[in-house]
Amino acid sequence: MSPIHHQYAPGFGRRPARSVFSSDAPRLSLNGQWRFRLSPSVAAAGAPPAAVDLDDSDWDLLTVPGHWQLQGHGKPIYTCCTFPFPVDPPYVPDENPTGDHRLVFEVPASWPESAAVLRFDGVDSCFAAWLNGEPLGWSTGSRLPAEFDVTAHLRPGRNVLAVRVHQWSAGSYLEDQDMWWLSGIFRDVSLLARPAGGIEDFSVTADYDHRTGRGLLRVDTPVPALLSIPELNLVDVPGAGPYEVDAVQPWSAERPRLYRGTLRTDTERVEVAVGFRTVAVVDGILTVNGRRIVFRGVNRHEWHPERGRALIEDDMRADVLLLKQHNVNAVRTSHYPPHPRFLALCDELGLWVVDECDLETHGFCEVGWRGNPSDDPRWREAYLDRMARMVERDKNHPSVIIWSLANESGSGDNLRAMAEWTRRRDPSRPIHYEHDLDSRYVDVYSRMYLPVDEVDAIGRRAEPPLSDPDADAHRRGLPFILVEYAHAMGNGPGNLAEYQALFDAYPRCQGGFVWEYLDHGIRRTHEDGRGYFAYGGDFGEELHDGNFVVDGLFFPDRAPSPGAIQYKKVIEPVRVDVDAGQVRITNRYDMVDLSHLEFQWRWDEAGTPVATGVLPVPAVLSGQTVLVAAPALPHGAVEAYLTVSAVLAGDEPWAPAGHEVAWGQAQMCPPPVPPAGVPDTPAGSEPTTSFGPTTGSGPRLGAAEFDAVTGRLRRLGDLVLTGPQLDLWRAPVDNDRFLHEQWRAYGLHRLRHRLIGVDAGDGQLVVRTRVAPAGRDLGILATYRWAPDDDGLLLRLEVRPEGEWPFPVPRLGLRLAVPAALRDVEWYGRGPGEAYADSWQAARVGRYAMTVEQMQTPYVRPQENGCRADVRWATLTGPDGAGLRFEGRPVFQLTARPWSSEDLDAARHTIDLVPRDAVHVNLDLAQHGLGSGSCGPGVLAQYELRPDPVTFLVSVRPHRAGDGGGACRSDQHAAPPCTPATTVAYNESGD
Ligand code: GAL
Repeated sequence: MSPIHHQYAPGFGRRPARSVFSSDAPRLSLNGQWRFRLSPSVAAAGAPPAAVDLDDSDWDLLTVPGHWQLQGHGKPIYTCCTFPFPVDPPYVPDENPTGDHRLVFEVPASWPESAAVLRFDGVDSCFAAWLNGEPLGWSTGSRLPAEFDVTAHLRPGRNVLAVRVHQWSAGSYLEDQDMWWLSGIFRDVSLLARPAGGIEDFSVTADYDHRTGRGLLRVDTPVPALLSIPELNLVDVPGAGPYEVDAVQPWSAERPRLYRGTLRTDTERVEVAVGFRTVAVVDGILTVNGRRIVFRGVNRHEWHPERGRALIEDDMRADVLLLKQHNVNAVRTSHYPPHPRFLALCDELGLWVVDECDLETHGFCEVGWRGNPSDDPRWREAYLDRMARMVERDKNHPSVIIWSLANESGSGDNLRAMAEWTRRRDPSRPIHYEHDLDSRYVDVYSRMYLPVDEVDAIGRRAEPPLSDPDADAHRRGLPFILVEYAHAMGNGPGNLAEYQALFDAYPRCQGGFVWEYLDHGIRRTHEDGRGYFAYGGDFGEELHDGNFVVDGLFFPDRAPSPGAIQYKKVIEPVRVDVDAGQVRITNRYDMVDLSHLEFQWRWDEAGTPVATGVLPVPAVLSGQTVLVAAPALPHGAVEAYLTVSAVLAGDEPWAPAGHEVAWGQAQMCPPPVPPAGVPDTPAGSEPTTSFGPTTGSGPRLGAAEFDAVTGRLRRLGDLVLTGPQLDLWRAPVDNDRFLHEQWRAYGLHRLRHRLIGVDAGDGQLVVRTRVAPAGRDLGILATYRWAPDDDGLLLRLEVRPEGEWPFPVPRLGLRLAVPAALRDVEWYGRGPGEAYADSWQAARVGRYAMTVEQMQTPYVRPQENGCRADVRWATLTGPDGAGLRFEGRPVFQLTARPWSSEDLDAARHTIDLVPRDAVHVNLDLAQHGLGSGSCGPGVLAQYELRPDPVTFLVSVRPHRAGDGGGACRSDQHAAPPCTPATTVAYNESGD
């Protein structure tokens, strides 16, 4: 007999799978401090730690639930899909860290003499258990429960429980789920009394007929049981019913109506929470309660930066609240069933759930899928076991509306068998599996990371045909979801709005799930006390996938990243379009009307609020639009914006009254005008006085002094400056993957500047340069035309590319360094957060103030961040309130940081960034978009930054204490947002 960690079989000695529920039968939690000893191999671990009298007093203490690697034993390993052991199924190496766990516990005198069950909610990856020296059995399937009957072995008083856990097992081949490999008893352990004649399990069926408004309820149990749901006038009625319930309120993610009650026999009473809802695919559309739904979803791994996947109730509640507050309505439990409490919270607070089985064999793709278990009958039992344990455990959750067989496990007969079993066991929920590319055994067509144009074709049911006409007809008739899209790694994702437009446009496109919810960084402390988050490779792994494990919308500590804010905006369930005289309000909820919202408006002049009020909006029904008159305010000379926010009118269980759900904003006056421009240097009248590169003294223009050798601005009034000079570089963002290799190969990060000449005259100074990387003959002629502008300078930068530029460039603008004391920033433009060409919708026009430090986004792996878009003016000031003021003509993009782009580029972790003795400022015309290129499509053509000839204008002047921000002059009004003159077009509507 092979050892347990080398067996195809999923386990031995376990009780049949069943649902999780609360009961009045006694329960003893065995969570707490256990004795623990880690051995480097099974051989080194020796005999099982079963003996009652084994002396474990010198073993360490370990918190259960928990992972041993996060408690000082062994090390975490991160690989995305490569197995961190030879692909040699079902075998794993001799170096198989083995953790022996022991707990002495007391069974109280009050404990009944009935049957008893020991329940493990999750152990990674393979374990065997002994109670009082007697073997109970063993199990694999890390994120699935395993129960053992301990009736014969449990004693009153002192009991000794021993558990041996292997880090690797045959089960590891089925658990290659792009996450940290972390081992141990990481979910709850409990002892359950099982009264004779008690409720072993139950299955709730609660359908909703949207045509009649009636519910149909039955609760099936192995032994007859009585059901009570007083609200439904059901008191001690036979559970099996069935019962027709008139005028029942259905359950949905938007209105999660639960009817709570009990189910009882003479010996046990358990809680039931019934949600009436019917899931169906009708005419190729996924419906719930007769209505099409659209997933505004995320993929959720379980994660906590200190506890790993050993989540506590607070973590799970925080997740559900955060998601609800960010307009997310759906979760795919990638790639395993979550802790059961998470699903109960989804039932209670309202999220649609795609519950995914604990199964992924992705690592076989590294060997051409040779030996993939999915098509090997020896693994059939393990596949079916995993599916049954999920379905039985989670079947009574109304939030679970789709079963997902697995992630990225190729195709094969075992998956087909899982689908067939599931369809028989639970015909009420559609089945999903993305890797079944021809969708033979599923009810939903699902893909990941498809480009926008392919989703568009699917929306029109015009995707390329499959070779088998029957399979093609089946797939073409299915609803479509993007089970993963928009890879939220580092800065990004971009293009969310384009996908959302397709979900709005095509009934077949029923939304998607952003990859992914949370960064899986591990919290660590540097020896100097500063904290940071670790990622793959930080634990000396011999194989790892670096920071691919930090790819969430939220940072590891659950703080929202700009991507989360952007997603919230793009998926908002109410669309508010502010137009000249009216506000158009569209209800994009799937079910509910808008009576739970209040529409508050605000009128800003030059970024300062001058009037507020509430718009009278009727209870618009789902899918409908109303037009409401916009408040009429006198139009002044300064730029004015009307912002309308849809906020919660009253408290909801997931957010307080006043929480903003959606908003819209538009410029009301003066009407946007094209930039008036500035005096150009008339052709043929180049300034005459020449300060060539070798001239000794620097030229001056008003209060400005320039460097004679480089032609750069050196001083403005009292302030010493470095720059500005042309900049094309950004510290690559994760989504610049592949492209940034080209950028580096061409040397965009090491441009050289050559002064061609400095010409002065007619009150202007013209500095002509050529900027180019070493080893290449392409370059840019950059001409800086300086002219006095009040007490400052107006700079007109002309960019003329030379040679072949075979790729878009990261940025186009000016970089300069100003004194480190100027760390208080105020600006009028988009904010408060960062914005990029294809990810700007969440940033609204206003007046903002922050320190330079606050403008940084702490991406776990440092990269370009913090760009503020459509800036009309900005001041950088020191403690005395004096400093510099920049003004756009009409706008520019502002980045200010206490370190340089090169520092950012070189840093691997946030703690590598140390403030310099200058503030590094970028005044940019534009940056290349973000896209989703870290895993998926790159930047859409319209958001690429091509090095075309452009002219960019910006002014700089001294700012004195007390100057204030000031209104914009009429020649500075922004046209479309983020408009970098000639290169990129933006569409404010987000269409
Ligand atoms: C997908 C996979 C996810 C994750 C993602 C990249 O292919 O299903 O688990 O690896 O790519 O982050």
